[in-house]
Amino acid sequence: MSSADLYAFHLISAPAGIPVSESHPLERCCVFNAEAQRSAEDAEDNRPALDVLWLRPPVALCAFVRIRGPVSCLPFYYRFMPQTALITGASSGIGLELARIFARNHCDLILVARESDRLRQAAEDLQQLSGTQPRVIPRDLADPQSPHGIHAELAGVPVDYLVNNAGFGLGGPFSAMDRQTGLDMIQVNVTSLVDLTRLFLPAMLVRKSGRIMNVASTAAFQPGPLMAIYYATKAFVLSFTEAIAEELTGSGVTVTALCPGPTASDFQRRAAIEHVKLVKNKSLGMMSSRAVAEIGYRGMMQGKVIVIPGIMNKLGVQSLRLGPRAIVRKAARKLQES
Ligand SMILES: NC(=O)c1ccc[n+]([C@@H]2O[C@H](COP(=O)([O-])OP(=O)(O)OC[C@H]3O[C@@H](n4cnc5c(N)ncnc54)[C@H](OP(=O)(O)O)[C@@H]3O)[C@@H](O)[C@H]2O)c1
Repeated sequence: MSSADLYAFHLISAPAGIPVSESHPLERCCVFNAEAQRSAEDAEDNRPALDVLWLRPPVALCAFVRIRGPVSCLPFYYRFMPQTALITGASSGIGLELARIFARNHCDLILVARESDRLRQAAEDLQQLSGTQPRVIPRDLADPQSPHGIHAELAGVPVDYLVNNAGFGLGGPFSAMDRQTGLDMIQVNVTSLVDLTRLFLPAMLVRKSGRIMNVASTAAFQPGPLMAIYYATKAFVLSFTEAIAEELTGSGVTVTALCPGPTASDFQRRAAIEHVKLVKNKSLGMMSSRAVAEIGYRGMMQGKVIVIPGIMNKLGVQSLRLGPRAIVRKAARKLQES
């Protein structure tokens, strides 16, 4: 690393008050670069040093800083740096497909889910795509301490994308549902999502840059007899996301509610709803997790507030607006029956 590069690094980071820590992306690049250069010298390897890739952008940014001043250049600074995506529920289904998209877009990944073996397997597969080892944080989001624990573990790591995807449902009458399972569902689908958003949003606002995706559902648009808590949690996610998206207008941070309809994943088996009409009825159009993730990712990058993947799901949601509430409730019940 030449002294000019070091100068560029400090010129950008110090006056702007960017915390300089080992986990800072630019410093990671520098450390990585210095190590790579050392091993290249040891091997008397004449390939161009990696700083051609990594340290030219800071030099270009240095010119920006001089012209526009350090604070106004912060958004540019972060755009040029490798970005980091924190994805909950990233070990399967929609979350895993979203992680694949972020990996293909060269994002550093932080993956959260409960089952550590499945999570590590997903991380290995994702490493093949991006070349970078994702960080795994095995946590149960039904534990109220988990969001704070995740945030504490990531102290100093700028999270550019927060994807609150982890969630689960359970079919059957409310009165027969195990009490603790119902409370865990609210904790995972709602409380942890709100807490993670509250924990990671302030740093995004300081950087004037960041995107949050909250995975809701088409279930958010109506009450769901025989899946009452699940539908209600998703209605919360949609309402919460819309409200804060409006509050954040002009802040540089966007929030998106992804509202998939029935999607092929482990969700139906876990929710014990494989036999219900909504899942079995092919004409309602079950989408793949991959298609849902791609549409969701595009919508999030465009800063959309609500993203409903698939024409059938869009039509379904629109028809709910026209129908009387009592009929909508009865129709929703029919779809949740066997
Ligand atoms: N599939 C659908 O039809 C559908 C439709 C609309 C919306 N959605 C929503 O889409 C999201 C993703 O679901 P999916 O279809 O991809 O289902 P999935 O394949 O079952 O994936 C759920 C993910 O969430 C994780 N998870 C579940 N409980 C957790 C907990 N307590 N703590 C931490 N992680 C937990 C799971 O990993 P572990 O089990 O290892 O923790 C898994 O990685 C959910 O929010 C779901 O409500 C799904």
